[in-house]
Amino acid sequence: MKIFLDTANVAELRKGMDYGVIDGVTTNPSLIAREKCEFIPLIREITTIIPGPVSVEVTASSVSAMIAQAEEYAAIADNVVIKVPINLEGLQVVKTLSSRSIKTNVTLIFSVSQALLAAKAGATYVSPFVGRIDDISGDGMELVEDIAMVFGNYGLTTEIIVASIRHPLHFVQAAKIGAAVATIPFTTLTQLLHHPLTANGMERFLKDWEKVKS
Ligand code: G3P
Repeated sequence: MKIFLDTANVAELRKGMDYGVIDGVTTNPSLIAREKCEFIPLIREITTIIPGPVSVEVTASSVSAMIAQAEEYAAIADNVVIKVPINLEGLQVVKTLSSRSIKTNVTLIFSVSQALLAAKAGATYVSPFVGRIDDISGDGMELVEDIAMVFGNYGLTTEIIVASIRHPLHFVQAAKIGAAVATIPFTTLTQLLHHPLTANGMERFLKDWEKVKS
């Protein structure tokens, strides 16, 4: 499973790259707003830190305006992927961008039918938001399983990015299902490593090591 960081924070992205486990980045308008800096230069900087796919979301509503934004963002760097919301306009945008070989990540996916239509329109990725489904007492990971099954039924090559991940269990479940990508907040990345027995084990080894005469 590829691991993307779900952040627009340059310091987190640099740290993630140092750890050697990050394959890409997803951003959204809320994550960009948190950084309080100019949008295009920020995206440019992110694309230089992360060699893998960098998802950048369009914010216009009409098809033509979304395509214009997409072309502007795609011109920033070769690794930019255009994030498009799932709706009728979004489908048309995905179809056009796919015919121009611009990669897309169809976002705000909350149903199998949305994912299937996005894939048929030519999406490179679909992003089901598991945490937001769990937030309203649904089962986000069940949606991921269903999308994976339906894509498998028809040999669709659109990849699933499990998004809105809130904790390590989401990450592990995504891997068990065989999702292509999990996009995780930086805090989850550090939580993935934590285990009390590892911490205790290290402490005991170091204590015993102090008794060794050199
Ligand atoms: O990038 C989209 C997604 O991961 C958002 O997550 O936590 O705002 O639901 P969250």
